[in-house]
Amino acid sequence: MVEILPSVLAADFARLGEQIRQVETSGVSMLHLDVMDGHFVPNISFGPPVIASIDAITNLHLDVHLMIEDPDRYIHDFVRAGADSISVHQETCRHLDRTLRVIQGEGRLAGVVINPATPVSALEDVIEVVDFVLVMSVNPGFGGQKFIPRTLRKVEALDRIRSRQALGFRIEIDGGITAANVADAARAGCDWLVAGSSVFGAHDPGAAAQELTAVARDAVAVKV
Ligand code: DX5
Ligand code: ZN
Repeated sequence: MVEILPSVLAADFARLGEQIRQVETSGVSMLHLDVMDGHFVPNISFGPPVIASIDAITNLHLDVHLMIEDPDRYIHDFVRAGADSISVHQETCRHLDRTLRVIQGEGRLAGVVINPATPVSALEDVIEVVDFVLVMSVNPGFGGQKFIPRTLRKVEALDRIRSRQALGFRIEIDGGITAANVADAARAGCDWLVAGSSVFGAHDPGAAAQELTAVARDAVAVKV
């Protein structure tokens, strides 16, 4: 089932609990949490204590996207904080296969993220290990950027690899997702679609999440 993952980065942090409840009651099942260190990306966001506080107030699946140098140092902290899935950037991991296996060894889903300039071919030797691949559709670091359409070709390529090799990994997309492109992204093969500004920037985040979910699911529904 195609899922919309509201990205907390775009929420009002002074009203975080209330905003999370708004999307939770609208029927989403996963939340996306962007961790930025000011080194791998130019921005700083939040870390394990904030995620632990979120985990304490919701049963939603917490999808943690690590935009940090040397993520291996922090995997256990994010597991303890309540992450259900953890993704690391291919560009930050010297021993990517090991990092993914450490995440899985903790009983969490392990994902690998590729920046817009990183080719799908860089994943060839871990594709059978990953639980999901996250294709960045903007350069990571900030919410509210413009979607890069070319990145959908990578989603299509991953979808073909998945069918050809009969693999079960999920495909996630992150950055600039709106009501105008969510259908194309779902049709290209995305299962998990992250939406920050287009959910929490909307007047009614719950209604916005619901609308995006409906458009994405309709795009891939089998018509009879
Ligand atoms: C960007 C983050 C995204 C961000 C998406 O580096 O990884 O998850 O929150 O925000 P929007 O949907 O506003 O592009
Ligand atoms: Zn993200």
